[in-house]
Amino acid sequence: MVRAERVHKRFGHVEVLKGIDLAVAPREVMCVIGPSGSGKSTFLRCINHLEKIDAGRLWVDGRLVGYREHGGKLHELKDREVAAQRREIGMVFQRFHLFPHMTALENVIEAPLRVKGVGKQEARARGTELLERVGLGDRVHNYPNQLSGGQQQRVAIARALAMEPKLMLFDEPTSALDPELVGEVLDVMRGLAADGMTMVVVTHEMGFAREVGDTLVFMDDGVVVESGSPRQVLTDPQHERTRAFLSKVL
Ligand SMILES: Nc1ncnc2c1ncn2[C@@H]1O[C@H](COP(=O)(O)OP(=O)(O)O)[C@@H](O)[C@H]1O
Ligand SMILES: [Mg+2]
Repeated sequence: MVRAERVHKRFGHVEVLKGIDLAVAPREVMCVIGPSGSGKSTFLRCINHLEKIDAGRLWVDGRLVGYREHGGKLHELKDREVAAQRREIGMVFQRFHLFPHMTALENVIEAPLRVKGVGKQEARARGTELLERVGLGDRVHNYPNQLSGGQQQRVAIARALAMEPKLMLFDEPTSALDPELVGEVLDVMRGLAADGMTMVVVTHEMGFAREVGDTLVFMDDGVVVESGSPRQVLTDPQHERTRAFLSKVL
């Protein structure tokens, strides 16, 4: 579903991604851990083409992200084509980024209505279903400021799902939450994984990574230091940098 080959990204003179290679299979849940500033968010943003890569190749579902290959050369896609690619990928951020002047349901149906051209009635029916699926069937008409952080993040997940993505990216989805609200968001993500969604999850929740992740990737300083089964990486890390990081967070 995702394939990265020698992906490089720099901001000015600073190389933030120094050749990332990895692959995510359909239905796989890949968790990504690593110190702050190691390039985790940047990598997720590259998958989604919110950032342009400087070298290497990146594919989602077999298609190059942002480019078309023709006669051995890469040609940049038009904005409209990039937007169409991006629509197939759901993204959930640390801060929920809901529209404050819209109810939970209105937030969820906004993109299907405006971007996909789904009819209002169908969008509302499907949006209500999605909010039920994230445990918010009784909150559809609440505004974000009437919801807890955990509830807002679940609305954000439902909103991403409303576009029927084939891949979901999560960037520290529980890091902004009070501790007692983390579990309800992880439960929703666990359910998505069980339903077969392909997911890349940047997280500090090692319990979730161990239990739900198929693969655990440790990034540091713009490279993948090691990856493997969560059990293996967490209990028998092969690299000193991984051991040093885990000793701080476990
Ligand atoms: N838009 C940007 N412009 C310049 N530097 C950036 C930008 N985004 C991220 N960076 C830098 O890239 C590095 C990696 O950041 P990031 O991907 O956010 O790391 P992480 O998510 O692992 O904490 C950091 O040093 C950060 O300051
Ligand atoms: Mg980050």
